[in-house]
Parts: sequence; structure tokens; C-alpha cells
Amino acid sequence: MTYVEAADAPLRKTGHIKLYGPEGFEGMRKAGRLAAEILDAIAEMIGPGVTTAAVDDLVYEYAVSHGAYSATLMYRGYRYSVCTSINHVVCHGMPNAKPLREGDIVNVDVTIVLDGWYGDSSRMFAIGEIPRRAERLLDVTYESMMRGIAAIKPGGHVGDIGAAIQEFVEPQHMSVVRDFCGHGVGRVFHDEPNIVHVGQRGTGPELVPGMIFTVEPMINLGRPHVKVLSDGWTAVTRDRSLSAQFEHAVGVTETGVEIFTLSPKGYHKPPYATV
Ligand code: MF3
Ligand code: CO
Ligand code: CO
Repeated sequence: MTYVEAADAPLRKTGHIKLYGPEGFEGMRKAGRLAAEILDAIAEMIGPGVTTAAVDDLVYEYAVSHGAYSATLMYRGYRYSVCTSINHVVCHGMPNAKPLREGDIVNVDVTIVLDGWYGDSSRMFAIGEIPRRAERLLDVTYESMMRGIAAIKPGGHVGDIGAAIQEFVEPQHMSVVRDFCGHGVGRVFHDEPNIVHVGQRGTGPELVPGMIFTVEPMINLGRPHVKVLSDGWTAVTRDRSLSAQFEHAVGVTETGVEIFTLSPKGYHKPPYATV
């Protein structure tokens, strides 16, 4: 794999890994913070009876009123400002007018563009009281993402991230989705490299200071297999088991890793103390 200075690279996927300098990290801090603030606002409004369409409206309005816009609206024909993936939906669930119900678990995945920088982050939300097995799934999924991020340091490899996630998840009899992965991000939404959430240490591209990408494991209570519904977007577990996901955008630094999308309010994982 070859690396290029992001500042000299065309604004698209080129087959090289872009390396960002201090202005890139500053741009990502601002974009990441806005995405995280939006997720904090969602934590304070979501609950039983709330519709995912209302979440979609909030994301649209919040982005536009802060000088940003949603990266997903009209992206490859996607028509919403956010993805809302409920229960056995793995990812790319589309907002609709159906009220959320007590016991649902829902992933809200926000990507905004601020001054050309893409802030991409998602969290799980528990709607009222949720079953114990759903609670366990959310805890394991959050912890797996954080272990994947903790494995990032210059001189390491992309495979270290997937290995850390897989080794933590599988002994707990849950599974890691293979069909979707993290991705380079920055001034391009989905860029090189792919961040696969399973793998072997020491494999894949070397982690180099200036790389910016997402870590976004999708974890299932049952088997890892997914299928995409006939709407062309909604990905569900084939066995209809519950699925969860968290996502942070991160940058490789000289000494380790910086997370751009941390919650300013400390709403890291449910239950969010929102009162
Ligand atoms: N935010 C998602 C990701 O983490 C991508 C959503 S693309 C959409 O990469 F079109 F489905 F919105
Ligand atoms: Co992403
Ligand atoms: Co995302």
C-alpha cells in the first residue's frame, strides 16, 4: 500500500492512503465534534413513541443550522440525513414514521460535512427497558470498538484492529459482521483503507501518523451473515438475531490515536444519564 500527502491528492478515492497534516486533524476535530453533538442531542430526545423520521429531521436541522450538511442525504441515491437501524437491522436502516417501542435497540449513524471534512459516528440507543441479552450486546459492541481503537499505534497494522475486536467478541458467543467495514475518511466519505473488524495482527497496511479512518464494528447475537432487503439499503441479520454497532472516526498520531467523535456530554454508551 502506498501513502500520499492528502493536501496533494485529488478529492476522491485514488487507491492510495491519504496522510493528513495538522489542518486535517483540526478539520476532523470540528466535524467530529459536530457529529458527536448531534448524537448527544438525539440521546436527549429519543425514546418510546419517538419516530426515526423525527431523528432524521433533527439531524438535518442541526447540521444546517451549524453550517454543515448531511453526507448521506442523496449519497448514492440514499434519501435520508441519517441511518437508523433497529433490532435485527445491521446498518443502513432508513428513517420512517413508525414510533420506536419500549425494548427496541437502535443504532443512529450520523455523517455530516463541515468545511469539507466528514464527521462520521454512530451510537446505540436503548428505548426504555431493554432485555438483558440486548444490554450485553450493547456492552460487548462498545467495548469491542474501544479495544479496536486502543490497538492503533504508528508502526502497527490495520489487522491489529480487527484482531483485537474479533478476539474479544467471539469468546462471548457473539459474531462480527464481515460484509461491512470501517473506512478511510477525511475530505472523502469512504476512502482507503478498508478497516475490517476481524483479522490477524501484523497484517494489512501499516498504520502511519496522519491516517484518518473509522472503526465501526457490527456485532450480532447470532451468526454473522447479513442480507440486504429489496429496498437496496436495509441490511439485516439472516437469522434475525439482534445486531449492534458503534462508530468513531480516529486519526493515527505520532504516539498513538486521537478520537475525533467523542461525546462532549459523556454519552458514550447506554444508559445515557440524560436528566
Ligand atoms: N455512515 C455510514 C458509514 O459509517 C454510511 C452511510 S451511507 C448511507 O460509513 F448512504 F447509507 F447513508
Ligand atoms: Co463510517
Ligand atoms: Co457512519
